Amino acid sequence: MSTHPFWLAGTAATGDTEMTVRNPYTGEAAGVVSVPTGAQVEAAVAAADAVAAQAAALPAHVRAGALDHVSRRIGERAEEIARTITAESGKPIKWARAEAGRAVSVFRWAAEEARRDSGELQRLDTDPGGTGRMAMVRRVPKGPVLGISPFNFPLNLVAHKVAPAIAVGAPVILKPAPATPVTALILGAILAETDLPAGMFSVLPMPNELAAPLITDERLPVVSFTGGPFGWEIQRRAPHKHVTLELGGNAAAVVLDDADLDWAAQRVALFGNNQAGQVCIGVQRVVVTESVYEEFLPRLVNQVEALGTGDPADPKTDVGPLVDEAAADRVSSWIEEAVAAGARLLTGGTRDGVTVAPTVLADVPADAKVVREEVFGPVLVIQRVADTDAAFAAVNDSDFGLQAGVFTRDLPTAFRAHRELEVGGVVIGDVPTFRADQMPYGGVKRSGVGKEGLRAAMTDLTHERVLVLTGIDL
Ligand code: SIN
Repeated sequence: MSTHPFWLAGTAATGDTEMTVRNPYTGEAAGVVSVPTGAQVEAAVAAADAVAAQAAALPAHVRAGALDHVSRRIGERAEEIARTITAESGKPIKWARAEAGRAVSVFRWAAEEARRDSGELQRLDTDPGGTGRMAMVRRVPKGPVLGISPFNFPLNLVAHKVAPAIAVGAPVILKPAPATPVTALILGAILAETDLPAGMFSVLPMPNELAAPLITDERLPVVSFTGGPFGWEIQRRAPHKHVTLELGGNAAAVVLDDADLDWAAQRVALFGNNQAGQVCIGVQRVVVTESVYEEFLPRLVNQVEALGTGDPADPKTDVGPLVDEAAADRVSSWIEEAVAAGARLLTGGTRDGVTVAPTVLADVPADAKVVREEVFGPVLVIQRVADTDAAFAAVNDSDFGLQAGVFTRDLPTAFRAHRELEVGGVVIGDVPTFRADQMPYGGVKRSGVGKEGLRAAMTDLTHERVLVLTGIDL
């Protein structure tokens, strides 16, 4: 098996050590990647710093052209990329193909936004003091970006770090998850085909400890992190930096009296379990009103039991393995803890290697970890509530707030949900597990700070600079 080089300031390079990436389902090697030395990491940061001014001045057509190229090439290599995602993360191939398709649009959107962004003109003669003056407001990059991405979307969550950075003209240093660096390195190879200046991007697979100094490095004023609670530690260590945190959640799907129960059951079953529940907006809590509870429950259990579990390389598989043994141990122990505390196991609860069977729990004590924390596994917790008031209160009774889904066909209820639910996004008529990549995406409370989504991320990575023109006759 040949070793994948990493990308140091746009050029392929190798270090002194290697990491073997394991296929979570088979346990076999899915790839070997070269790990940069400390000196090479320093060289990547120095290159990003050195090119920052040139990057910020790149014409829109250069930035957009590079992004269009990446979009097209991901499309051309989509099947190879999808198979790589499946091999290194255990994500079922059907979802890996969907992920590659999404990354095509992330880069395409970034190109479109880069072309569209013209800043803003503001008249200043609204008061006597501003007579003869006007302001031009443009956004300029805050500086080189450190992007830290997780294992659950090895391509698309990397795309959400890299594409907006290039779109605004900010160099980016990407540290992919140690479990899934190979896909990010393919993206590096595609980026290396563009005319972007050296230093504009580096892709550095490395153990988390090696990356720690980057968090506090002053030459990387922006940190964009997607992952778990460690994000808050980044913010603590680098209080003077701009830190964007896309952290997890225990997303709720609400099934109200007027819901289409068959549709709701099918969607909740699928999106509580796809990618083995390893999605930040995957359904975890299912809040069901009293009047439809008894009807909904068997429908949900039937749908969950109909899911195809097994080899992620099989196109029929809906639910694959968890990312590693430790994750499967944790999820299984949380299920056992809930059952020991009185929860009813309606289906699942078993485990085969790192694959945990899709599990549905009812009557779970309110303080169980499967209710309070982020499970990040194929576990659905059903909560029975009296009415819409109680349902919305249950959604908000969480330390997290990323997205929520509400199955209702009533427009005033939809607007009420949007008004009252303490989350970054509300999906009406479907599960919370919906993300169009151009939407602002990000949570409140322990789910993070800042937003992704192309336009939102570009705003996040830049600040406004005003130019006041004097002697203008409007
Ligand atoms: C996430 O799991 O953080 C992202 C979900 C998505 O992009 O669909």
